[in-house]
Amino acid sequence: MSSLILVTGGAGYIGSVTVAELVAAGESVVVLDDLSTGHRSSVPSDVPFVHGDIAEEALVGAVIREYGVEAVIHFAAKSLVAESASDPLLYVQANLGKTASLLQSLKAAGVRTIVFSSTAAVYGEPDSVPIREDHPRRPVNPYGLTKLWIEETLGWCERSWGLAWIALRYFNAAGGVPERQLAERHHPETHLIPRLLNALETHEPAEVFGRDYPTRDGTAIRDYVHVRDLASAHLLALEAAKGGRSGAYNVGTGEGYSVLEVLSALEQETGMRLEHRVLPRRAGDPAVLVADGAKIRRDLGWQPQYSDLRSIVRTALDALPFAQP
Ligand SMILES: NC(=O)c1ccc[n+]([C@@H]2O[C@H](COP(=O)([O-])OP(=O)(O)OC[C@H]3O[C@@H](n4cnc5c(N)ncnc54)[C@H](O)[C@@H]3O)[C@@H](O)[C@H]2O)c1
Repeated sequence: MSSLILVTGGAGYIGSVTVAELVAAGESVVVLDDLSTGHRSSVPSDVPFVHGDIAEEALVGAVIREYGVEAVIHFAAKSLVAESASDPLLYVQANLGKTASLLQSLKAAGVRTIVFSSTAAVYGEPDSVPIREDHPRRPVNPYGLTKLWIEETLGWCERSWGLAWIALRYFNAAGGVPERQLAERHHPETHLIPRLLNALETHEPAEVFGRDYPTRDGTAIRDYVHVRDLASAHLLALEAAKGGRSGAYNVGTGEGYSVLEVLSALEQETGMRLEHRVLPRRAGDPAVLVADGAKIRRDLGWQPQYSDLRSIVRTALDALPFAQP
């Protein structure tokens, strides 16, 4: 049954694609976003949009009452790993502190269903891959630590006041939705595919961080999930949480690609040659992060449809010309 869903961070990259998928599925949505990294133009004009901070409890309470919010999908966060290492308290405050305020507002209003954007960064340097959900969580940066603390906090809210929660631990979100003009647009951009696209556009060599990893070509391997497949995971998680299920799920395909493999896929799609230069590894970047995605497939029936590397690269490219400043 349809319900009114509050989407925090719905003007961001993954949030905006999920809003579009929710609306297409007939759900009613209200977006709350402070536009610190998101884009107003990414939210359709007929979707109610509230410009504000998730930590403003009076505002969030008013939004819940006015729209009759019954469930929340919570994307809003700061997510720059290097920034989190140089300013850890900023991340504790922005991610953990503000999520605590949001949860306080939900509790006060009697909203007891939430889907939360977690991350593979909760695992840190994995002991083994593919990574299962029961792998030890030892984040190697404050960003991952704040996400781990939020997961733990959600568990305590479940035990204390009956919150039903699902944390989706995304691996690498990628790709775009050209027909909806939705592309990945972060400033600064730390993610591989938009950085490669940027290098193509500016005719600068692409930067490859680390060529000495113990992998098949020496570059880091990641599990890329198309943003539309991530969106569908949220719709399934929301249904499951509404049915009272709680827990954490990896969202990944189980297949990993190296930096050079992604670069070469982009060259093939564009027919252009992309020069690259090798720089030292970035601190806290593990050699291989690949999900064991069996749990979400089994429990929630998730099936990625767009996450082959070619579709990811193609849609990232095709979404670009529409990008607005
Ligand atoms: N992109 C990835 O590969 C990836 C991987 C793992 C986890 N995640 C998580 O997924 C979520 C979404 O990521 P994204 O790539 O779409 O990021 P994004 O920066 O594009 O989106 C975040 C959105 O939240 C908004 N926001 C931030 N703080 C806010 C606040 N206090 N109040 C209201 N709005 C606020 C921003 O304006 C933005 O629209 C984040 O929580 C991120 O940590 C992303």
